[in-house]
Amino acid sequence: MADSSNIASTASSPSGSAYQTDALIAEDIDAYLDQHQNKGLLRFITCGSVDDGKSTLIGRLLYDSKMIFEDQLAALEADSKRVGTQGQDIDFALLVDGLAAEREQGITIDVAYRFFATEKRKFIVADTPGHEQYTRNMVTGASTADLAVILVDARKGVLVQTRRHSYIAHLLGIRHIVLAVNKMDLVDYDQQVFDRIVTDYTAFASSIGVDAFTAIPLSGFKGDNIASAPSASTPWYSGPSLIAHLEQVELANVAAQDGPFRLPVQWVNRPNLDFRGFSGLIASGTVKPGDGVRIVPSGRTSTVKSIVTFDGELEEAVAGQSVTLTLEDEVDCSRGDVIGAAEDPPQSSDQFEATLVWMSDEALKPGRGYWLKLASQQVTATVQEPKYEINVNTMAQLAAKTLELNSIGVAEIHTERPITFEPYDRSRALGGFILVDKITNATVGAGLLHFSLRRAQNVHWQPTEITRDDHASLKNQKARVLWFTGLSGSGKSTIANEVEKRLNVMNRHTFLLDGDNVRHGLNKDLGFTEADRIENIRRVGEVAKLMSDAGLIVLTAFISPFRAERDMVRGMIADTEFIEIYVETPLAVAEARDVKGLYKKARSGQLKNFTGIDSPYEAPQDPEIRVNTVEMSVEDAADYIIQRILPLK
Ligand code: ADX
Repeated sequence: MADSSNIASTASSPSGSAYQTDALIAEDIDAYLDQHQNKGLLRFITCGSVDDGKSTLIGRLLYDSKMIFEDQLAALEADSKRVGTQGQDIDFALLVDGLAAEREQGITIDVAYRFFATEKRKFIVADTPGHEQYTRNMVTGASTADLAVILVDARKGVLVQTRRHSYIAHLLGIRHIVLAVNKMDLVDYDQQVFDRIVTDYTAFASSIGVDAFTAIPLSGFKGDNIASAPSASTPWYSGPSLIAHLEQVELANVAAQDGPFRLPVQWVNRPNLDFRGFSGLIASGTVKPGDGVRIVPSGRTSTVKSIVTFDGELEEAVAGQSVTLTLEDEVDCSRGDVIGAAEDPPQSSDQFEATLVWMSDEALKPGRGYWLKLASQQVTATVQEPKYEINVNTMAQLAAKTLELNSIGVAEIHTERPITFEPYDRSRALGGFILVDKITNATVGAGLLHFSLRRAQNVHWQPTEITRDDHASLKNQKARVLWFTGLSGSGKSTIANEVEKRLNVMNRHTFLLDGDNVRHGLNKDLGFTEADRIENIRRVGEVAKLMSDAGLIVLTAFISPFRAERDMVRGMIADTEFIEIYVETPLAVAEARDVKGLYKKARSGQLKNFTGIDSPYEAPQDPEIRVNTVEMSVEDAADYIIQRILPLK
C-alpha cells in the first residue's frame, strides 16, 4: 500500500558531503548502506494534529541521529531565519514539511517517508498529516508500520484526534504505541501534567483494546528525552529516551517468525525444464528443507526440497525474506497460491466480513465489482451495504448505506472465487487488501479481513452431470445471451420482442427478460438508486446465466446504465455467448417519443433519478452489435441482429 519509492531518495540523494560524524555516508553511500544492511529496520508512523510539533520532533530525530546532509542543513538554517518562527534557533519542522507550497499553507499533506539510522537500527518514519479528512493518508502510512508515535501537546492533553489516531493505529495492527507527551518545556516539565495525561490515555486505550503503551515526556524543540534520558529537566522520569525505545521494541518481522509458515507465491520461476521454483516474500513463520507444505487453495501437499536465493541455498528462511522454494513433487502451484505449513495451512473462502477504509472521492457502490488484491491474488469482489460506519472520533457505530471518502466501516465482501487469507489480526500480509476500480484502475479502498462467513464454509458447489452443452444440444442450438442496453424509450423491448418472434419461427428456444416485467416480480423490491440498479443487473445477470446454462437463447432488455455491471455479466457468461447490443437512440429522440410519459415527469421533477436526466447512462464502447433506431426501422433492426448472431447451432 505504502509507496516507499521516495525513501531511497531521502537516504541518498543530496550531492553534498555528509554531516560530520558518519563520514562513510559521504565517501561511499553503498558501503554505508551495506554496513546498515544487517541492522533491523523499524518502520513507524507519527500521528499528531497540526500544532502538536510532529514535524519538529521528526526533524529532531533526524538531526540527533546525524542523518541530515550538509546542504540540507544550510538550507534549513536559511529558511529558519527567513520564516523565523523560532527566532535564531533552527526550526526543525521546516526540514520535514517538504514542499514549499505545503510549507506556506502551514500543513503537511500526503505521506512523506524519512530514513534515518542509529548504531543499532535503521528507521523509516511515515509522516502523515493530522487533519481528520486525511484518514486515508494515515491508513497508508500505518499499514506497514511496526510502531506509532502518538503525539500529544502537554498543554492540551488527550484530544479527539489523539483517540482517532490511536484507534486507526490499533485497527491496522500496530502493536507498539508510544504516547509522546510533547512540549513539556511549555508546562515547566511538570510531572503532574504528564501523569494526568497518562491516566487519561490509559482509560481510553483500554476501551479500544490497547493494553500496553509507552509514555515519554518530551520536548522536540529543546531535545529533552529524545536521544538520552532522563533529561536534566525531567529527573522524575525513569523510562527510556525515544530513540532508545525505538531501538529496542520487537520488530513485526521478528514477531511474524513465530507464526505458521506462509509464502504467497508471486511468480513461478522456470528458467529451464529442470528447474521449477516458487518465489515470494515469506509472510510468516520459518521454513527448512524437508518441511511438509500444503498449497492452498488446491490442498495438494509436498515437501520442501531446497530454498534458493541470489546468494545460494539456505538451510532456513524466515518471515520477511524473499526466497524461491523448490518442492519434491511436481505439484500445480501458480501465482496467487499460498504455500503454507502442511499441518496448519491458511483458509480459503469467498465470503468475508471486513473493515473497509474508503479512499476515493466517489463513494462505495455496494454490489459493484471491484478488483480485490490480497497478497499476490487478484479477484473480482463486491461489497454489500455496510453493516455500519465507525465515527472515528467517538468510535460510535452509525447506520450507513455507503462509505464516503475517508470513512471507515464494516461490511460483507463476496469474491468471485475463493481466496486464501488469514484474519488481519493474525497476518497483515494475508489479511490486508485493497480494492481497485476496474475502469479507472485507481485504488478506492483498503480493507482488513475479520473472518470468513460461516455460511460460505458450509455451502459447497454440488457437481451435476448433465452439462450446459447437453441442455443446449437437446434443443438443437447453442445458448446465447443477447444483452440489449440503451436509454429508456430507446426501443430495447420492442426490438428484443421482434427478435424473439423471429427466433421462435426458426424453432429456437428462447426467453425474453424485460426490465419492466422483472421489476413486477423478482426485483419488485428494487428502485432506481445506483445501488438498486446495480443489484437489478446482478440478479438479471444470474438469471440469464442460469437460463443459458439450461440451453436457452436469452434476450434481456434493461437500461443497464453502468459499464461495470454489463462487464460483470459478460464475465459471468462464456465468452462467445454474451452479445451486447447497444440500442443507440439519442436522448432527444427517446424524449420526444416518450412512450410512457416518464421523461415529462422527470423533466418536471416528479420523477427522480431518471436515466439521461439526473442519472447517468454509460454507453457501450465496443458492443458486439449496434443498432441505430433513427436510421433503422424495428423490422430492419431485428433482421440485422438475427443475421449477426447466426449460426445458432
Ligand atoms: S435499470 O437501470 O435498472 O437497468 P430497468 O431497465 O430495470 O432499469 O428499468 C427501466 C424501466 O423502468 C424504464 O423503461 C421505465 O419504464 C421505468 N422507470 C421508472 N423509473 C425510472 C427511472 N427513474 N429511470 C429509468 N427508468 C425508470
